[in-house]
Amino acid sequence: EEKEEETCSFTVPNYACQRRTQLHHHNPSLSDALTLLAENAELNEDDGRAVAFRRAAAVLKALPAEVTSVSQLKGLPCLGEHSLRVIKDVLKDGSCSEVETTKHSQRFNALKVLTGIFGVGVKTADRWIRDGIFNLQQLRESQTTLNRAQQAGLDHYEDLNQPVTRADADSITEIVQEAVSSLFPGAQVTLTGGFRRGKMTGHDVDFLLTHPEEGREEGLMDKVVSWLDSQGLLLYQKTSRNSYLESRDGPGRPSSNMDRFERCFAIFKLSRGQTSPPAGHQWRAVRVDLVVTPISQFAFALLGWTGSKLFERELRRWAGHEKAMSLSSHALFDKTQKRYLRASSEEEIFTHLGLSFIPPSQRNA
Ligand code: GTP
Ligand code: MN
Ligand code: MN
Repeated sequence: EEKEEETCSFTVPNYACQRRTQLHHHNPSLSDALTLLAENAELNEDDGRAVAFRRAAAVLKALPAEVTSVSQLKGLPCLGEHSLRVIKDVLKDGSCSEVETTKHSQRFNALKVLTGIFGVGVKTADRWIRDGIFNLQQLRESQTTLNRAQQAGLDHYEDLNQPVTRADADSITEIVQEAVSSLFPGAQVTLTGGFRRGKMTGHDVDFLLTHPEEGREEGLMDKVVSWLDSQGLLLYQKTSRNSYLESRDGPGRPSSNMDRFERCFAIFKLSRGQTSPPAGHQWRAVRVDLVVTPISQFAFALLGWTGSKLFERELRRWAGHEKAMSLSSHALFDKTQKRYLRASSEEEIFTHLGLSFIPPSQRNA
């Protein structure tokens, strides 16, 4: 009887998209340990292992209280043998030797620094490491040829690795809003990504642009980018259709999830007054993502660009495995009915998927 009382265990649903995950939760030391191992697996292109650690971390983020004993975790989904071992160590000693070893390894730190350069992915970083380049100084001193993105990334490394604040995001929103409404009256600007989920800082600022009349969004990106450029607001920009494979935003996804929106990876130049640049500087560089979507796909794009990355991944897994549907940032296809399901809001998409609506602030899996 007594034992039953002390092993009060938790239950959570299987998929992250069935759960509410707040930014602040009860188990940061456990989720941080697992997240670091996930990051390391991503940097070593071990996607299977990375997802397993990300899922385990997400389960811990969703628990209603602090874990004090592994016995409380019995029956929880997504906690494999490896993750449980890490959790046990952290509960017992406050740290896990595998995590500590990884954190201090030369390879992990070199991969982190090099992939921290905008435009540098894990393949490039790995090649540089094999050539003996482990840090920025060695990269600068080497004769390595950089593409335009990587050169901009290296030039603005300090700024781009400084967290973007909510205030920065708000002032960039104002700028983009001004550009869009003066060039395309009626067009709409929506902040997505981490800031829409309520994060106080981010690595970039993400926007979705659309027009309430289908088709009227055409030409929007070129005009907005030219305007921003003419105002001296851009340090770098690359506009493209479907450039997902080149992005450093994530490891390759199945081709069905690649999106074909017009998008722009940019580095904005924010002046004093628009931001608080580092002491002694007149401006700072900030990464901005702009995506244009026709209104008919807006709800799917909004859901797809709000994140978190794991939440998105889980939504697609739920759709495929549990509903025989295929979800992307463009559409939802029902394989049983062999037809696309329309939606004009995120709520409708959750309903199509047979899920309770989870608001953006609770998608922090
Ligand atoms: P921080 O920027 O680090 O604060 O976090 P974030 O959640 O905003 O991440 P990020 O800006 O990398 O991505 C925002 C969302 O857009 C995430 O859900 C990503 O999965 C999604 N995303 C990023 N790149 C692409 C892409 O090329 N295509 C699609 N469909 N989604 C993308
Ligand atoms: Mn973002
Ligand atoms: Mn982004």
